[in-house]
Amino acid sequence: MRFVKARDYDDMSRKAANIISAQVIVKPNCVLGLATGSTPIGAYKCLTHWYEKGDLDFSQVSSVNLDEYRGLTHDNPQSYYYFMNDNLFSHVNIDIAKTHVPDGTIEDAEEACRQYDETIKATGGVDLQLLGLGHNGHIGFNEPDSVFAKGTHCVNLAQSTIDANARFFASREEVPTQAYTMGIQTIMQAKKILVVVNGEGKADIVEKAFFGPVTPQVPASILQLHQDVTIVGDEAAFSKIASRI
Ligand code: GLP
Repeated sequence: MRFVKARDYDDMSRKAANIISAQVIVKPNCVLGLATGSTPIGAYKCLTHWYEKGDLDFSQVSSVNLDEYRGLTHDNPQSYYYFMNDNLFSHVNIDIAKTHVPDGTIEDAEEACRQYDETIKATGGVDLQLLGLGHNGHIGFNEPDSVFAKGTHCVNLAQSTIDANARFFASREEVPTQAYTMGIQTIMQAKKILVVVNGEGKADIVEKAFFGPVTPQVPASILQLHQDVTIVGDEAAFSKIASRI
């Protein structure tokens, strides 16, 4: 695992965006695994800026997103489909037909997950997977569990995740309780993984996930077994591991 220290959120965002843009420059038809949450927003802003300057071309890029709330329609501003359009896709020249987010509107969970696994397979595999980190160690929406889930599956969100994500909704009651998420095995199959973390609220889980035992109770801990992981974090997020990196 490679730890890249950033001064603050903006520095973390630029460093992460640099890694993503290097991937796009080196392999213009790459498959990007993309993430939502508040942490990657700054990196998406940088990518947009560099596209506008003419430094980046997304025309051949494909993307697969990690997760989606079950039951939210595409036009719901809280859906991850909407988030991706709002924060990245509508600002760059990516072909929207080559972007993929699990379809939260498919009621049949098994069917929704089966379709998404086929979609991921059809892309030929993820070159670079971007990940945020939940406070309980979740990646995508893979919540702490007794096993590591393999493929796309429907999860019941942990109460702490519902509480953490309530800030994006008008009320806690509106936060969906289920989501479709890419599985741990699929995430681990990405050729490269890039994790972004910021703020002191993530300091404890950063230590647990990357220096603690590998366990499905801390889903991100499995990343310790991946051969090409880069973690870009600000000083606050790295405060508990500073002497070890
Ligand atoms: C959400 C998303 C995750 C994200 C995590 C952290 O639940 N499903 O993909 O990494 O929360 O979010 P944030 O970056 O806002 O802390």
